[in-house]
Amino acid sequence: MGHADPHLNTVTTASAFAQDAHALDNYWMPFSPNKEFKAEPRMFVKGEGMYLWTADGRKLLDASSGLFCVAAGHCRPEIAEAVYQQLTTLDYSMPFTRGHPLGFQLAREVAEFTPKGLDRVFFVCSGSESIDSAMKMALAYHRARGQGHRQLFISRERAYHGVNMGGVALAGMINNRKAFGVGLPGVYHMRHTALPQNKFVKGQPEHGADLADDLQRYCAMYGGENIAAVFVEPTAGSFGCLPPPKGYLDRLRAICDQHGILLVFDEVITGWGRMGANFAAQAFGVTPDLMTMAKAITNGAQPLGAVAARTDIYDTITNAGPAKGIEFFHGYTYSAHPACAAAGLAMMNIFRKEKLVEHAAQMSPYFIDAMFSLSDLPVVVDIRAIGMLAAVEVAVDSTPGARGHELQKRLFDAGVNIKSTGDNLIVAPPFISEKSHVDHVVSVMREVLSKA
Ligand SMILES: Cc1ncc(COP(=O)(O)O)c(C=O)c1O
Repeated sequence: MGHADPHLNTVTTASAFAQDAHALDNYWMPFSPNKEFKAEPRMFVKGEGMYLWTADGRKLLDASSGLFCVAAGHCRPEIAEAVYQQLTTLDYSMPFTRGHPLGFQLAREVAEFTPKGLDRVFFVCSGSESIDSAMKMALAYHRARGQGHRQLFISRERAYHGVNMGGVALAGMINNRKAFGVGLPGVYHMRHTALPQNKFVKGQPEHGADLADDLQRYCAMYGGENIAAVFVEPTAGSFGCLPPPKGYLDRLRAICDQHGILLVFDEVITGWGRMGANFAAQAFGVTPDLMTMAKAITNGAQPLGAVAARTDIYDTITNAGPAKGIEFFHGYTYSAHPACAAAGLAMMNIFRKEKLVEHAAQMSPYFIDAMFSLSDLPVVVDIRAIGMLAAVEVAVDSTPGARGHELQKRLFDAGVNIKSTGDNLIVAPPFISEKSHVDHVVSVMREVLSKA
């Protein structure tokens, strides 16, 4: 590539940190126990393939694909090279009333992976932005077709839709809401589908399709004609892998159709292969009207997200606008940033060349069986798994979440990197995983969890 080794910088900085008592003071870490981390830092300085390395040279298997992003494994040279070339050719170009070819090319290539008909692609910089963008699209679409009175949104308990104000209003995880006031008005939540009968079920559970009728109740209560959109993660990810009960998504689709409500799938985690198909929409055979995505679209190497919209949603909004004026007053300084688009295009090549989604689908049954082999451990109270995503739920200790938090630290110390949410240990390995990687994760988990 003809430029300096970036690892050297990171390692030097990390060892300088070790000498400086205040080196960690200034950075206010996101979604982290800042005080604990700064007293006991767990810092990575290098990644390659399935592995991450700490500053003191320890090697960990990354069983969470970063944060569900690194589907093709860490530090892919093809992506690094594409970003480097782009930054030295056209580093930035304003996205409002100007374009660059890569944004258009990436939109076209993304549309080859999305379900048929969801082929208009709006770029953003994160999953959170994709959610708030989709909310605005839904409102703008209804207004453009003369139904501006549709302003209510329906979401679900235990949902995670990012951290911008729209996404927080949709959120169904209490800690993500409670410090931030009343949020947006007009957002109602359906019940979650984590029923006691659905414990220890591989894939989609049998029970709970009828919970989709909560939407019908909201239609009866507030008028279906006033509801703009329903947002769901097809499989709830951040909470800890809640696959949809059989028939649940079809039922939501039918109720939305009956009342003219848009169905939005938040595919920020489930998209790009995690469910064993390009998107969960294809895995579950239900097509939404809008679909949000981020994370693995660039393998996590550059911040990029997108909303894929039905062709006629785009047409309705653009045709309602003036002949030569802006039609949708929304966008970001970094929408379709050239370097992010370059990373996205390089990742599309990797998806195609390495048949990554197919690999995820092939590995999934082995992965699921391996995760379920932990069922006998006394501390494990539930396991849920689908595609290449699993959650092992452990019994609550002193306070909810305390044991999950402690265990993810012990797993780190034992060489496996995962994310915990509450008492759910979430496992989401890269799609380049081989059976030996899965076996390693499970054996380390068995060792650590059996001592819990
Ligand atoms: C389903 C879902 N939606 C939205 C987001 C927010 O994405 P970001 O953190 O890129 O803003 C996430 C992040 O994990 C997610 O899982």
